Amino acid sequence: MEPMDKGAIVRTFDGMGCHGADLTAVSALELFGREGDWHTAVYASRVQSLEVWEINPAFEPALRRNLPSAKIRITDSIVEVARTQDRFGLIVVDNPQAVYAEGRYCEHFELFPTVFRIAQPRAIFLINVNLRPYGLEANRPWSERRRNFYGVAPHALAPEFVTSFYRALAAANGFETRWSFLVPRNSFISYLVFSVTKNH
Ligand SMILES: C[S@@+](CC[C@H](N)C(=O)[O-])C[C@H]1O[C@@H](n2cnc3c(N)ncnc32)[C@H](O)[C@@H]1O
Repeated sequence: MEPMDKGAIVRTFDGMGCHGADLTAVSALELFGREGDWHTAVYASRVQSLEVWEINPAFEPALRRNLPSAKIRITDSIVEVARTQDRFGLIVVDNPQAVYAEGRYCEHFELFPTVFRIAQPRAIFLINVNLRPYGLEANRPWSERRRNFYGVAPHALAPEFVTSFYRALAAANGFETRWSFLVPRNSFISYLVFSVTKNH
């Protein structure tokens, strides 16, 4: 696997600024924290507040060390999005790849559509999208889960397909997409950013 380009998160946040997003006023949530040093620490100082969720308690000390001003919660994010009463203006989904959690989860698919309930009326989603998954041919469960989620052949997703797919998902859940863009992290995975407003 190629290393992730940390410059990608900088370009992504710069891109949001170019679209007029005032990130200094935003309450951000990172749903898959790990130790917070791959990309969260890069943007932590650019948002007003940051909450980080991570399932593995072994990462908690490093998370607190790397993100001293963040609120840290050790929890299953996919369960937590269904029960929290909190709402966020920036929702970051740096999900694991393939199928995990003994087959319960795949990429970020189980977050949708529930994750829309934790979005403020104006919110930005920043999610990992895998346009050309490495090793998919040899991983049938992953391939099937992608086919079911996206509804198309899962091996190579066009950028235009991905942006319109998440736009339609937002629309079906009461949110209009104001703008969106993709930033490659490596030759497989990109950040997809989409900014939404809640329909009345
Ligand atoms: C790609 S890493 C995140 C990297 C992190 N964003 C950073 O910048 O360093 C994915 C993380 O998701 C965590 N994870 C997996 N399933 C989870 C779940 N259901 N809820 C919360 N975290 C989970 C894994 O333990 C792993 O630490």
